[in-house]
Amino acid sequence: MFTLISGEKIPLEFHKARIVQKINLLPTSKRLEAVREGGFNTFLLKNRDVFLDMLTDSGVNAMSDHQLASMFEADDAYAGSQSFTRFEDKIKEIFGKNFVLPVHQGRAAENIISQTLVKNGSLIPMNYHFTTTKAHLELNGGIIKELVVDEGLNIKSSFAFKGNMDVAKLKDLINKEGADNIAFIRMEACTNLIGGQPFSLDNLRQISQIANDNNILLVLDASLLAENLHFIKLREQGNEKKTIRQITQEIADLCDIIYFSARKLGCARGGAIITNNKELFDKMKTLVTLYEGFLTYGGISVREIEAITTGLDDVMDEDVIRQSPDSIEFMVEELQKKGIPVVTPAGGLGCHIDAGAFLPHIKQEEYPSGALAAAIFIVSGIRGMERGTLSSIRGSDGKDILSDMELVRLALPRRVFTASHIRFAVDRIAWLFENRHLVKGLKFVEEPSVLRFFLGRLDALDNWDQELANKFIAEFGDNM
Ligand SMILES: Cc1ncc(COP(=O)(O)O)c(C=O)c1O
Repeated sequence: MFTLISGEKIPLEFHKARIVQKINLLPTSKRLEAVREGGFNTFLLKNRDVFLDMLTDSGVNAMSDHQLASMFEADDAYAGSQSFTRFEDKIKEIFGKNFVLPVHQGRAAENIISQTLVKNGSLIPMNYHFTTTKAHLELNGGIIKELVVDEGLNIKSSFAFKGNMDVAKLKDLINKEGADNIAFIRMEACTNLIGGQPFSLDNLRQISQIANDNNILLVLDASLLAENLHFIKLREQGNEKKTIRQITQEIADLCDIIYFSARKLGCARGGAIITNNKELFDKMKTLVTLYEGFLTYGGISVREIEAITTGLDDVMDEDVIRQSPDSIEFMVEELQKKGIPVVTPAGGLGCHIDAGAFLPHIKQEEYPSGALAAAIFIVSGIRGMERGTLSSIRGSDGKDILSDMELVRLALPRRVFTASHIRFAVDRIAWLFENRHLVKGLKFVEEPSVLRFFLGRLDALDNWDQELANKFIAEFGDNM
């Protein structure tokens, strides 16, 4: 955060807007219609009905002038494109990894890694799962073991590295289950589902040591690496003076495989798996040609490959990567000033509202996070994302497996929103908090069996949506 002469701290943008896109704030009655049409699922809203799209930070980040310029130099070829060679060279330069497999997005990397390394009954210890990761690992017969430190699941906390893995729990698991039954250890940078919370470099070092001692592979999901690098530099003693590139290299040296969604890391669209292990590379490359495309494009357009290459260079600059976490911290602090329960400390990717504490009268089986995301849209036109029980699955008894946390994520795509957008969001959420008793639960009317949160359709219990809209319109008119 930047400190003004007055002492006030604000997120200061180290960029200027040179291309802009108009957005529209629909009247409340139209927002109500839109949320009903979308089955109370913010994934199913039409973007034209959305004022501030805080659904995700994935594939919707602002690109730099350098990225756009590099896209014009793309070398379009099915095989042997120069764009891919430049990408490979950049990966070697930044991560020190020689083998690079391009994939069309993060979950494609998860598919290939899971198919290569996971057998029926294999265990995969991780700090915490991500939705698509879990789906791919389980599809291949894997069993996930979440070993995040206890503090990671403590919503209100001042612990700087809530994404750390519990070292004692990992040792215990290896002792009990045997290293041979572990497919790999997975660490996720700025752990998405628990509020974008980072791990420390020291923790990764310890995990890597245990992995080495037991001959287990260490796989890093680096989709949110940029913000994790920022937090290591900002919060972890002994790293303040290191450059972002130095910290990146240290992290990369500790991991056997790194994969990422370039929809986040590098602010473009695509992904990659990188390693120095030739044997693993050879195993995985056949799956790339099967599922993604030839080895020099992997289902990504060459223009995007250029954008990722330049984007990776961009995020090695602290002034570039701090903009998003600083804005998130600002939002978290402003919401806290109004008494709104949020995940602390502020993490990467977005501000996370504690829907369980916001709507304590809604039981988890009636999806408080989904209801809150729909209510926020009705009162503000802001599209957030449910990250709670609705994003979970049903157990074999047909009952919801209740999630550890009920969150609504308001993502701040990198370099997209301004401080006044954030103040607008805080203002509307504060009104909703005052009127939270009006919000009730949701029920499924159409429930897909896999990743149900993407396409599932729901309905509001007891028509609370109408009551909420009526109250808002009665206070402010339809056009607010
Ligand atoms: C930590 C993490 N891993 C993997 C993925 C999947 O990436 P993609 O959406 O590009 O498939 C995401 C996407 O949000 C993510 O946050």
